[in-house]
Amino acid sequence: MKTGVKKAELHCHIEGAASPELVKAQAAKYGADVSTFITDDQYVWSDFTEFLAAYDGAAALFRSEDDYASLAQSYLEGIAAENAVYAEIFVSPDHAVAAGLTPEAYFDGLASGIDAARTSTGIECRMTVVGIRHLGVEKVEAAARLAAGRPHPLITGFGMAGEERFGRVADFARAFDIARDAGLGITVHAGELDGADSVRDALDHVRPARIGHGVRAMEDPDLVQRLADEDVVLEVCPGSNLELGIFPDMATHPFDRLHRAGVKVTLNSDDPPHFHSSIGHEYRLAAEAWGYDAVKLTGFTRTAIEAAFVDEPTRAILLGQLD
Ligand code: ADE
Ligand code: ZN
Repeated sequence: MKTGVKKAELHCHIEGAASPELVKAQAAKYGADVSTFITDDQYVWSDFTEFLAAYDGAAALFRSEDDYASLAQSYLEGIAAENAVYAEIFVSPDHAVAAGLTPEAYFDGLASGIDAARTSTGIECRMTVVGIRHLGVEKVEAAARLAAGRPHPLITGFGMAGEERFGRVADFARAFDIARDAGLGITVHAGELDGADSVRDALDHVRPARIGHGVRAMEDPDLVQRLADEDVVLEVCPGSNLELGIFPDMATHPFDRLHRAGVKVTLNSDDPPHFHSSIGHEYRLAAEAWGYDAVKLTGFTRTAIEAAFVDEPTRAILLGQLD
């Protein structure tokens, strides 16, 4: 029987969850070379721009429905073994199309992997379609229109990832309006590479239920208060933040200070093998840094499930698993 704290994660990019071993196997299958971004079974990059290139390189090697089914199943079974009961994955149709797949085949493949993992472990999962900010407003709006057409029942959210320093968030407001009008849950990356202003802009122009990262809101006490007052949930990824150099160490990471200021925070792995992480690792890091016990950690899982983009019956079942 599995023991330990039940976990949930709201912020994991599926292409970023591919282990170097799996990517090397994909490269062998398609006769591709990965030496520019994988060395000695590790991803190699030295800054955010190189990280995005490694991410794109790996994503280019998932080219069929089956490739994506295996990726989703292996990620979900891996975190189920860490006692995760729920995950939301960010899915990027732009990456799938670049690799030669149709969005429909991409969603169907991922859904097959999700179904297989649910059958083998009981883990529940939903998909949030993301537009890629540095591909520009047109592409992000196209991703929003695609998601708004509700192409698969497991697609319940819309968000935006990519280079946060590209353009202004206001330029993308229409994409989020399209997705919100279709009833999708809204999240947006902000306050990771860019400072508190990016979080304020996201609140003003996107009106998200959740923010991906958001940690640099800590630079502005009034903004922290606003996040708390407006009940905006942060998808915090401490391991990712450390590896990307956003904060030097856990002692300076603002997760606990945001929590104590009344902001709703959750723990997430972002792109786990790139950051030598997993959802279990994130919970361990937080427990070690701030002395959280099992009750406290389960509280973050509860926050995540309360903020999950799922139907209410599913939410009730998931919350019931925490008792
Ligand atoms: N895409 C994958 N990981 C990301 C991150 N941490 N920030 C922005 N875009 C991403
Ligand atoms: Zn992310």
